[in-house]
Amino acid sequence: MVNPVTLSTLRAMPATGEPIAALTAYDYSFAVAVDAAGVDLVLVGDSLAMVMQGHASTVPVTTEEMAYHTRCVARGLTRAYLVADMPFLSDADTQLALANAAVLMKQGGADMVKVEAGAQQASIVAALSQAGVPVCAHFGLRPQRVGQLGGYRVQGRDDRGVAQLLADADALQAAGADLLLVECVSASVSEQIKARIDVPLIGIGAGSDCDGQILVLQDMLGLTPGRAPSFSHDFLQDTHSIASALSAYVRAVKTRQFPGAEHGFH
Ligand code: KIV
Repeated sequence: MVNPVTLSTLRAMPATGEPIAALTAYDYSFAVAVDAAGVDLVLVGDSLAMVMQGHASTVPVTTEEMAYHTRCVARGLTRAYLVADMPFLSDADTQLALANAAVLMKQGGADMVKVEAGAQQASIVAALSQAGVPVCAHFGLRPQRVGQLGGYRVQGRDDRGVAQLLADADALQAAGADLLLVECVSASVSEQIKARIDVPLIGIGAGSDCDGQILVLQDMLGLTPGRAPSFSHDFLQDTHSIASALSAYVRAVKTRQFPGAEHGFH
């Protein structure tokens, strides 16, 4: 009998020094494989718009599509904690956010929802949290804002940018976020963020000092068409099967071998 990972498990991990190993998954078969490899947290990311549906960004995916994929993944998990992304504008105001979080949790079976948010969206995080919804707040590079950002860029590149990220972290934690996920910042910025928050900090392209790491499944299996992000690593090229690539990723995260300096921004 496996002990399922709960929010309490995840909250306790930073104190024990054991990194949280997280990956995305979008279907039943990969959910089974990722769970068997010992991944602690599985995210049904809105990246599915790109890697499953072939869109150029995460913007087009709908809440109903997210709920469908979340339901498929939920059937494959016995241990890992399940997080589902709130897609673009599904959390544009409090009422929408509550209604769409309900779809992802009740129909999709998600344990938690993830919202892309900064300090300006803290009231949405607070409303979800006050309604009893566990929330992961994703800040730093927010891929849903790629249209506004003009591309996928490292965040916090000057003092003003760093100050904004620190203010985002403070506001999101104060609003009740249970986990923070930071994308595409330097290791020194994620260290500063980590030093001021009590909730676990999961990083993607954010250096090795975070409490956990996440990658997009297709990136870490070398399946992404074109150039994979520089912060990722193709674990399948080092081994002979998907199962061993997934286990190698979990091992590399748990032993802090991944990410290495070559996967970071300076
Ligand atoms: O949608 C997604 O896959 C994500 C990860 C990049 C963290 O948000």
